[in-house]
Amino acid sequence: MTSRRDFLASASLAASGLVLSQLAGCAREASPPASPAAPVAGPAATPAAPGPMLGRAIPSTGEQLPVIGAGTSGSYEVAMDSPQYDALEEVVRIFFEGGGSVIDTSPNYSNAEEVVGALLAKGGWRDRCFLATKLAADSREALEAQWAESLRRLRTDRVELLAVHNMRNMAEALPFARELKEQGLVKYVGLTHYQASAHAAMLQAMQDERPDFIQINYSVASPAAASRLLPAARDQGVAVMINRAFEDGLLFGRVGGRPLPGWAAEAGIGSWSQMFLKFVISHPAVTVVIPATGKPDRQADQLLAGRGELLTQAQQDELIAMFS
Ligand SMILES: NC(=O)c1ccc[n+]([C@@H]2O[C@H](COP(=O)([O-])OP(=O)(O)OC[C@H]3O[C@@H](n4cnc5c(N)ncnc54)[C@H](OP(=O)(O)O)[C@@H]3O)[C@@H](O)[C@H]2O)c1
Repeated sequence: MTSRRDFLASASLAASGLVLSQLAGCAREASPPASPAAPVAGPAATPAAPGPMLGRAIPSTGEQLPVIGAGTSGSYEVAMDSPQYDALEEVVRIFFEGGGSVIDTSPNYSNAEEVVGALLAKGGWRDRCFLATKLAADSREALEAQWAESLRRLRTDRVELLAVHNMRNMAEALPFARELKEQGLVKYVGLTHYQASAHAAMLQAMQDERPDFIQINYSVASPAAASRLLPAARDQGVAVMINRAFEDGLLFGRVGGRPLPGWAAEAGIGSWSQMFLKFVISHPAVTVVIPATGKPDRQADQLLAGRGELLTQAQQDELIAMFS
């Protein structure tokens, strides 16, 4: 892990050159014909925003992370000998070469840990990866067995972040995660949930337990985290990982063929995917967003959201009004 900062710096630089043009090319290939006057709902109707992937610091250490990460629920739960697995090899290549680092998984996502482990080993990506997995078990014995199995499936001897999945059995899981951190097997500990109904409990747990990270839902259609939880995380120096930026894909159904707002092109935003992610990372408390996809063109498009200017408050408010 000694070279992580160096890696992030070089990954960002790489992303601004050859890899960025490749990303823009990928996204353009996937685009429907675009009218210059009316940005379309498909990927990248405008040129890629210039510059490297934006980074955010983990408050407890200052370590920088690229703002666009990757989730694995559903999209990585595929058979190892399937065309979907082959597509994921391309997805992770685009992800790492485009400056990505954070991958979030869980023993709760059927075989996703195994798929992630195989992909990282095959591409030689492990040292570039900030790997996050979770604990989700109801006894100390089960937690220990689950952790051992996660390491085996992920083909690694450590993870960067170990989080308590949906705050389940926190009384045993959090002390266990902290023990692993003390042993140097885990760099950060965290808590996760994915529903606004859990925000109050997350706020309380964050205050009581002071984890390094929380992971929570936040999107144009579910902006509730911005009212108390995100400001509190910022005040308390807790890193924030955001899930469900696309509402598990449902947002794409809601936009249909609707054009992007008129200001999108000027803001360097060429697709709804970029728009939804840009909304999330425009909140200053957000450290990294972890959208899931198993499609190479969608992965390339997502990475473009990590570049260029953030949205103004007025633009964020307009999106919330549009999806409320
Ligand atoms: N409790 C927890 O800890 C918790 C709960 C929820 C989520 N998470 C984490 O957060 C990650 C993200 O959340 P999520 O996976 O629930 O939801 P999400 O990222 O909001 O949405 C993912 C879905 O969107 C689809 N999608 C992506 N780009 C698209 C596009 N351009 N057009 C149409 N569909 C598109 C994906 O399908 P394709 O694969 O076909 O592109 C996938 O089905 C998860 O993968 C997981 O790692 C954690």
